[in-house]
Amino acid sequence: MAPSALLLLLASASGAWASHYYGGSMTFTPKGMNPDGSFRVDFRYKEAYHTCYQWNSWYCSSGNCGTQNRFEIGAVDRSATGSSWCQSEGFITRNISIDRPFQMRKTGCCWIYNSISNSGSWRLLTHVDLGIRSDTQEPNRSPVTTIPPFIRVPQNCRRTYNLVAHDPDGDQVRCRYGAAYGTECNFCNQHSGFQLDKNSCTLTYVSSSSLNAHAFEIVLEDYPRQHITLTYTDGTTSVKSPLLARRNKQATTTTPSTIPWWPSTETTPIPTTPSHGLQTGPLSKIPLQFSIRIDPAVSSCAEGLILPQFLSPTPTNGDLLTSFVNEELEIRLKATATQSSVNNFIISGPLNITKYITDNGTFADAVIWWTPTENDFGERIPICFIAESVSGSRVYHSEMRCVIVTVGHSFGEANVICTENTMTVEVEKSSIIGLHEDHLRLNDASCTLTSNSTHVIATMSLNSCGTQLEESAENLIFKNEITSYDKATDIITRKHHVEIGFSCVYPKKGKASLEFRTHKIPYVFTEKGFGKFTYEFEFFHSPLFHTMMDPRAYPIEVALNEMIYMEIKATSSLSNTVIFVESCRATPIDDPNYHTFYDIIDNGCVVDDTVVVYSSGQSTYHFGMEAFKFIGQHEEVYISCSVVLCMAENPDTRCSQGCRNATASPAVHHHHRRAASAETSTHYISQGPLRLKMAANQPVSTMGLNMNLVFIAGTILLAVAMVCAVVIYRAKGSKIKYQPLPSSDF
Ligand SMILES: *[C@@H]1O[C@H](CO)[C@@H](O)[C@H](O)[C@H]1NC(C)=O
Ligand SMILES: *[C@@H]1O[C@H](CO)[C@@H](O)[C@H](O)[C@H]1NC(C)=O
Ligand SMILES: *[C@@H]1O[C@H](CO)[C@@H](O)[C@H](O)[C@H]1NC(C)=O
Ligand SMILES: *[C@@H]1O[C@H](CO)[C@@H](O)[C@H](O)[C@H]1NC(C)=O
Ligand SMILES: *[C@@H]1O[C@H](CO)[C@@H](O)[C@H](O)[C@H]1NC(C)=O
Repeated sequence: MAPSALLLLLASASGAWASHYYGGSMTFTPKGMNPDGSFRVDFRYKEAYHTCYQWNSWYCSSGNCGTQNRFEIGAVDRSATGSSWCQSEGFITRNISIDRPFQMRKTGCCWIYNSISNSGSWRLLTHVDLGIRSDTQEPNRSPVTTIPPFIRVPQNCRRTYNLVAHDPDGDQVRCRYGAAYGTECNFCNQHSGFQLDKNSCTLTYVSSSSLNAHAFEIVLEDYPRQHITLTYTDGTTSVKSPLLARRNKQATTTTPSTIPWWPSTETTPIPTTPSHGLQTGPLSKIPLQFSIRIDPAVSSCAEGLILPQFLSPTPTNGDLLTSFVNEELEIRLKATATQSSVNNFIISGPLNITKYITDNGTFADAVIWWTPTENDFGERIPICFIAESVSGSRVYHSEMRCVIVTVGHSFGEANVICTENTMTVEVEKSSIIGLHEDHLRLNDASCTLTSNSTHVIATMSLNSCGTQLEESAENLIFKNEITSYDKATDIITRKHHVEIGFSCVYPKKGKASLEFRTHKIPYVFTEKGFGKFTYEFEFFHSPLFHTMMDPRAYPIEVALNEMIYMEIKATSSLSNTVIFVESCRATPIDDPNYHTFYDIIDNGCVVDDTVVVYSSGQSTYHFGMEAFKFIGQHEEVYISCSVVLCMAENPDTRCSQGCRNATASPAVHHHHRRAASAETSTHYISQGPLRLKMAANQPVSTMGLNMNLVFIAGTILLAVAMVCAVVIYRAKGSKIKYQPLPSSDF
């Protein structure tokens, strides 16, 4: 007690006692080692008082907290109407010589008048552990969080707040009420009338009789998802365990909404003593404190009437945005209310964030800008916003929405070229520093990228490499993305995964084109060492392979026992390549992995005894078979084959091995594959459908799976001229949030 009491006095002497505290938080990010071997940790903390007090009185309450190397602070946002608060963010860089756990604390007086007390000290505690995690090979990063300090809700309006509890390491975050009096909390109160779901970090206001501010003293803790070991430079280790399932259950609140959730099922502080020889404490602990004011009841809780309602383009809660060092991030907000006047957006975000608000009474718009610096690279920065409206002397708040901004490096120049049936994306190498091309792929993992000295390039057809089709009222949008991935052989997991999404937009016009049947356009791929190459898969009329089936004739009708003639042709910019058809099978839907199939060629060996291979050249493979064996059982049949392109004259490739009995030599294949770019990945190509010629019964639907492709085949021909391309970037594992490439003008 003595040190904090002393500090309280010191704080008081510095004038802090005069401020009224609305809430605060702190997060931290280890930033690696300094040249002298000391550890660098960046801290961001928020504090809100009735004016913009900006003071830094964090002190070391346990362990070795090192020394402060940099400190900056600035106001983030302040109240516009009806209250008086100012939230600031402080940025601290500390230099820490020992990587053992330590705790930093801050304390002062006094909380604003609230439902518990007319004053009361406030206490913030941050627990840091810099041990190297066995799973990431890095020290733990704390969850990130922020919140506007003063939130209003009418007494009669149930409302849920998703507290930001995003963990950059992917750990499980638990949000609980502070329990340790004097360090984590001062009131240590669990508010009746509110439900806190510890696992999802959602706080729901249910009801309250107290028209007052409620002081929340929440603690965020992160736990690994598996047992991990933390290793310290002094050779010691500690073990961190996941949250127990039992505790998860306990933490879930299922109380009916009318009954105040009180008292809590969990009142014991987190165990810090070892159990079963394992440490069950969290990896880190950070504070999140704020005030929620219960205002008098309103006549309607519906959004958009009295209470403001967010409108598009406001990001949805939980969106992950990507921003780039030295490039301005812009977020647009919009809100409306018909029975009050929306005139403000409260934001809580990083130091140096700015906002600009315009309103015309009914509608209000805001633009939020923030430009990350080099120092922010790799960080996750939370930003929350609330729309505020007024009516007479009453002030109303919307729901709270928060986004997480990942800071990456700019991707500089990227180009998308759309043609009739291909998309090409070219990304400047200099702009993907830290993302080696060997670690990049498209949606379909078998599609890698090629490059020249300046660009990383991927070309694919609209039907290859996992290209996805989306439809809007006017357009067909083909999307794919370049994704970074870790190879199994990598020792270090890269953290700053980024996906470069790109798309080609084709206007859909000409409904007449609906008459077209499915026919697969050539499959285009790019691969390292092979550049761009194309596979075409066509049915032919005769074993002379002079004329192929008309694409408009699909589905192709075949009679039982009729021979079908197939050609697979590879086109490559390299002259010394050879095609190898590894397998072919018939399936009733266009999916080679469908559970019902009939093998035609397997492992390079002919399986069906009606198969005739007419020729097997460097670039073409001609074969045929009788239709009856499989087609009789299904309405429609697709033929899909897996093909490989190899460097000719290399004896170690799959192509040179030919038919390989799977049971005899199962392991060889994977061992030799992809050695020194002598062969490509295996790609699946398909063609179809084939349909049994029959007496005119059963009108067969074409509305199934391939409807979209049916559609495309026609529209593209009609409207190629209007194709446009878009490049988008997004953070990995995200809910999608698109952002145009800053260098382009859209
Ligand atoms: C870190 O702190 C130690 C001890 O105060 C000091 O000797 C060292 O120079 C500092 N390193 C950096 C990079 O500031
Ligand atoms: C905030 O902006 C100032 C002035 O542009 C800059 O010097 C400072 O580094 C910025 N601070 C942070 C934490 O981004
Ligand atoms: C306010 O702005 C919105 C668009 O943001 C517009 O639709 C509306 O007509 C405007 N209202 C007035 C009264 O100007
Ligand atoms: C590499 O490819 C890009 C895109 O096709 C092209 O613009 C650039 O000129 C090429 N660079 C070299 C050195 O060939
Ligand atoms: C593969 O080997 C098995 C036993 O080793 C044999 O029964 C089978 O006929 C072989 N198949 C081919 C296609 O050679």
